Amino acid sequence: MEISLRHIIKTYGEKTVITDISLTVAGGSFTTLLGPSGCGKTTLLRMIAGLETPDSGEIYFGEHCMFSAAARRCVPPEKRGLAFVFQDFSLWPHMTVFENVAFGLRASGHTPNISRQVHDALRAVRLDTLSNRYPHQLSGGQQQRVAFARAIVIKPECILFDEPLSALDALLRAEMRLELRELVSTRGITAVFVTHDQAEAMSMSDKIAVFSGGHIEQYDPPEEIYNHPATSFVARFVGSSNWIDDHHMFRPEKACIQPLPAGQAFSVRVVSSLFLGRVYQIHLKYGNADWTYLSPVKIPAGTDFPIYIDKHDVISL
Ligand SMILES: Nc1ncnc2c1ncn2[C@@H]1O[C@H](COP(=O)(O)OP(=O)(O)O)[C@@H](O)[C@H]1O
Ligand SMILES: [Mg+2]
Repeated sequence: MEISLRHIIKTYGEKTVITDISLTVAGGSFTTLLGPSGCGKTTLLRMIAGLETPDSGEIYFGEHCMFSAAARRCVPPEKRGLAFVFQDFSLWPHMTVFENVAFGLRASGHTPNISRQVHDALRAVRLDTLSNRYPHQLSGGQQQRVAFARAIVIKPECILFDEPLSALDALLRAEMRLELRELVSTRGITAVFVTHDQAEAMSMSDKIAVFSGGHIEQYDPPEEIYNHPATSFVARFVGSSNWIDDHHMFRPEKACIQPLPAGQAFSVRVVSSLFLGRVYQIHLKYGNADWTYLSPVKIPAGTDFPIYIDKHDVISL
């Protein structure tokens, strides 16, 4: 199901939180809203769900108008056919895993074969053997999977995710990326996923909308965002960037220590080396600028050497 936002504006009192956003999310795609805290991601997601009302603009699900300020149309959340997964899981503590998943199904009026549908959803998230447990008897990752089961059990065309992995520890968070992505993609579900974590956005998304201060800076596939950032905000927010001057930068992995035919040389000095396991992350100074260089070997602090960048790898902004 395609989701189309047209000229959405939202203010709280004097403060404009969303500044005229238009965005089309392709049906069946995994689309991420990425940006720093406070830039309006949750507000936009809640407007798609119908939990907040835009001041102006229109929201369409396919051909169906869910919201139009001009036409005074606003379909309530429970009639939009969406599922929502929150960061804090929002499970009922006094209900078992089974009952938590069944609750959503009963609330949405799907009453026949509840038991089978709940077990199918729990099997999909590998929790079918734990259906009689209570949330406090589960790990954080298991609780999050209950929240996913509760979302998929109603067979929604679209699921909205608000930082669903942020409460998990780093290792589990990385594992769950793949699991979550497969869960929605294999079902053809359209996913709109909010995060402030650029690595999460890069690894999971078909397209990323990079947010800053209530507007979208760039809306493109991850490779395009990384290799061709549209603005200096995007270049700085996604990945590391080595700035040559105010308008030119390159990504650390593009630097070479061998001279390149089409290369430009830059004299740098080593400040420190950080061992990352596979490589050393070398902190360099280029004039007053701080650069990063990835090296297979440690380089002593104070070393001066030239690095070379192919001119095609220099991004102009
Ligand atoms: N109900 C509200 N009333 C007033 N201000 C709000 C409300 N909800 C969010 N805001 C403000 O809107 C801005 C965007 O918030 P939010 O959408 O939660 O950002 P994000 O999810 O990107 O961190 C913030 O400055 C926040 O303080
Ligand atoms: Mg938020």
